Amino acid sequence: MSLSENLTIGVFDSGFGGLTVLRALLPLIPGAHYIYLGDTARLPYGSKSQATIARYAVESAQFLVARGADMLVIACNTATALALPEIIASVPVPLVGVIEPVVQMAHYGRQNTQVLVLATQATVHSHAYLHACERRDLLATEKACPLLVPLVEEGWIDHPVTRDVLRIYLSEALQLCSPSAVLLGCTHYPLLVSPIEQTLLELNSNAVLIDSARATAEAAAAMAASLQKPSSTHQPVTFEFYATDSIEKFQNLGSRFLGQPLNEVKLLDLGG
Ligand code: DGL
Repeated sequence: MSLSENLTIGVFDSGFGGLTVLRALLPLIPGAHYIYLGDTARLPYGSKSQATIARYAVESAQFLVARGADMLVIACNTATALALPEIIASVPVPLVGVIEPVVQMAHYGRQNTQVLVLATQATVHSHAYLHACERRDLLATEKACPLLVPLVEEGWIDHPVTRDVLRIYLSEALQLCSPSAVLLGCTHYPLLVSPIEQTLLELNSNAVLIDSARATAEAAAAMAASLQKPSSTHQPVTFEFYATDSIEKFQNLGSRFLGQPLNEVKLLDLGG
């Protein structure tokens, strides 16, 4: 745990996606020290087994705590869906995952309505969203979108291939449900908000998008407030960034996700 006076928040994802959560955290907890880890060498988590995802997620969480994190934000739906109990058992600090805050946000004013959850293959297979939605009287249809993470990691945000892929996934899903809301059940997907909204309109759906980044950041801010460590004194925000694969790629694409330059990124070897 951190010995420094200022609140230190560890944020973890398999890649760049969690930077969308970090970006949403900055205005809510402006004076913290953030340590971000993107496990880019072992991405995508979404196509791996539960045991592998749990091992990767626990190693990443323990690294962040060893670096001094007072709390963790598991900014990865796949790790949250498949490994939250293992992560909680492996670290001595409180943590926020992504699924509960997103479903909580979707729940306001929407009981007994249909929602569509877009997520990775592993998250969909876990049915973590289905169960969280059932507990709040939301009828969830889960749709695995395995091609979206590689497209986002490639930086193909506003790209015809990405629009075609979205059209296929969303039209398949809309044959199964008429959702009032679409939950972005993967932290890579907030980067695709605009093409997803356009595609929904083209397919005659008025569903509202629920952004996992904002919902998670709000839950993390509530946890930070309960830790009684200063986070918004007059100190400026500070960062440490770690990636397990190409630093250059992380800096180039990551700055796009975060909305500001990632000056110093350190290469980390977490093994295979
Ligand atoms: N960003 C991660 C999530 O929220 C998934 C990416 C991956 O498949 O590694 O699920």
